[in-house]
Amino acid sequence: MREGGLNMTDTMTLDSQDLIKAHDLQGMLDKALSLPEQIEETPQYLQGFIPPGGEVRNVVILGMGGSRIGGDLIKAQYSQKLEVPFEVYPSYLIPGYVGRESLVIAVSYSGNTEETLTTFEQARAAGARMICISSGGALKEKAAQHGIPFIQIPGGLPPRAALGYIYTATSMALEKSGILENQDLARSETLALLKSLKSKWGPASPSTENPAKHCAEALHDRTVAIFASGAFTAAIAERWRCQLNENAKMVAYSNEFPEMNHNEVVGWTQPGKAYDQFHAVLLRDRDDLARVSQRIDFTKEVLEKRTAVSEFIAQGESSMARLFFLVYLGDIISVYCALLNGVNPTSIDIIDAMKEFLRNNRDESGLVK
Ligand code: PA5
Repeated sequence: MREGGLNMTDTMTLDSQDLIKAHDLQGMLDKALSLPEQIEETPQYLQGFIPPGGEVRNVVILGMGGSRIGGDLIKAQYSQKLEVPFEVYPSYLIPGYVGRESLVIAVSYSGNTEETLTTFEQARAAGARMICISSGGALKEKAAQHGIPFIQIPGGLPPRAALGYIYTATSMALEKSGILENQDLARSETLALLKSLKSKWGPASPSTENPAKHCAEALHDRTVAIFASGAFTAAIAERWRCQLNENAKMVAYSNEFPEMNHNEVVGWTQPGKAYDQFHAVLLRDRDDLARVSQRIDFTKEVLEKRTAVSEFIAQGESSMARLFFLVYLGDIISVYCALLNGVNPTSIDIIDAMKEFLRNNRDESGLVK
């Protein structure tokens, strides 16, 4: 319970506009709901974009937090189709194989993230072919200084609320570089799907008919264990975790099948343990392997004996539509959880404090190798 005990907002439900007004001070719910509009808008920011030429033997995405998740989602979506290795590096160091035949995309929404600027310099020194994506900042300046193709996306949002811009700019850069096939059809389907979901999951749709509100009511006061049905849903589970962490200030973690069947499942079988502090979420997809589906069904019964379980299956035809169906749901749920927890979904005071601490305590000797 928060300091001061019960207050007005404790008695308000997600159907109350006053609850949104009381806590969503910078409009995170509207920003989360604007995902389809961001996807729709992004192609205009690639007008005139010319990718670096030449043969590509591997692709590396550099970025942190809300800026790297776009790369994770793309990797998860296309991993079975990609003809070259594709890695996302949220780190201070790039992998040793990066060289002249690497395509490196540096993504930082602010353009000022220390880790990304550091790995940008390492990739440039290694002679990689590069693309930069940001809303401005030092990354934009560095791209201009070195003649690196740059995609500018709109600023003014928390990075995690700019996923539509970040994902689409990264995906289109890869399409124009010949790494991915053209995704215009999948984008159209995704837009139509998300626009139809916006009213179903948005604030005007009452809790009794709204699966996003319903799920948030079950999750907001629990530790959330998110289980992905495989590599495709694993990146989505990671997005759910990050959004619950940052928007709702909740502890959550994610794991995936089949790996969790070889370790974590045992952790759910201790007699007398208070598992009801958790809420398990299963994220599934129609293309899950049949053998893995059997594993999930078995494990679901183990979990259900000990705690509450919610299950969501991706809907849509293309992998992009199915991916964003689950991402959009998780994003909206995370904001509803914030409101139910009585916290401002936009504030990330501890991340801001950490960045400030590092700015005031500069030791750059070990930054660039
Ligand atoms: O969601 C957030 O605000 C963070 O996870 C940021 O994305 C992260 O700190 C990196 O900043 P940027 O996205 O500006 O590079």
